[in-house]
Amino acid sequence: TRRVTAVDIAKRKGGEKVVSLTAYHAHTAGIVDRYVDFILVGDSLGMVMHGLETTLPVTLEMMILQGRAVMRGSKRALVVVDMPFGSYEEGPEQAFRNAAHVLKQTGAGAIKLEGGVHMAETVSFLVKRGIPVMGHVGLTPQAINTMGGFRVQGRGEEGQRIVEQDALAIANAGAFAIVLEGIVEPVARRITETLPVITIGIGASPACDGQILVLEDMLGLNDWVPKFVKKFGTLRDHIEEAVSGYAAEVRAGSFPATEHTYQPAPGPARKAAN
Ligand code: KIV
Ligand code: NA
Repeated sequence: TRRVTAVDIAKRKGGEKVVSLTAYHAHTAGIVDRYVDFILVGDSLGMVMHGLETTLPVTLEMMILQGRAVMRGSKRALVVVDMPFGSYEEGPEQAFRNAAHVLKQTGAGAIKLEGGVHMAETVSFLVKRGIPVMGHVGLTPQAINTMGGFRVQGRGEEGQRIVEQDALAIANAGAFAIVLEGIVEPVARRITETLPVITIGIGASPACDGQILVLEDMLGLNDWVPKFVKKFGTLRDHIEEAVSGYAAEVRAGSFPATEHTYQPAPGPARKAAN
């Protein structure tokens, strides 16, 4: 089976909803691969995998390592890798150098970068040189220090104008899709209805052409999740049950049992490994 491409996603405007989740590991990528159109290796891995408070400290090396894991674990979905803070903002040349490095090292089919009007020139530079770009406007977590916190965007006339101009600029620059994060419904709807580009919402209403969530958030691995996340699973409870069961059995001496224990078998060594 051939992988979904950025071009395939771009053609979905007005068609079936585009479905996406994040993944950072081979095993979760393999599960997600069967159900989504694209997998995002998000820089949210900084928080989810590493316990960081923001995505700012995430490095290119971290993204490449997890991007490779997700490529190995999946075979169907398009894999999109986030460009981390500091790896693309200086200008088109820096962005191209690092984005090309990411694609060469991982084999992923596209990159994503945050920003609106000010990133349009960079998006255009990359797309013209063969790198499919997914945009990301609205609440852009890499700009948390200048936004003054994680705030819903697009409120008020000024807020609405900024988000709409950002989306327009990134669409005109040739992005194959744009993540709309943390923006009010009317703005997400207007962007989706007026621009020819695919919009992928996260906290941006059902009006978008598609949706994305952070996998661990929707699985219920954490207690706290933002308002826009629905917990489709209760993974934390399942893990707690398994871990406490294991601990209790080891303490009671009931694990490992006979069936988990090797004996000096008569057969060949290979068979004994079972
Ligand atoms: O890093 C991430 O997971 C993201 C999605 C939430 C869009 O950028
Ligand atoms: Na991200």
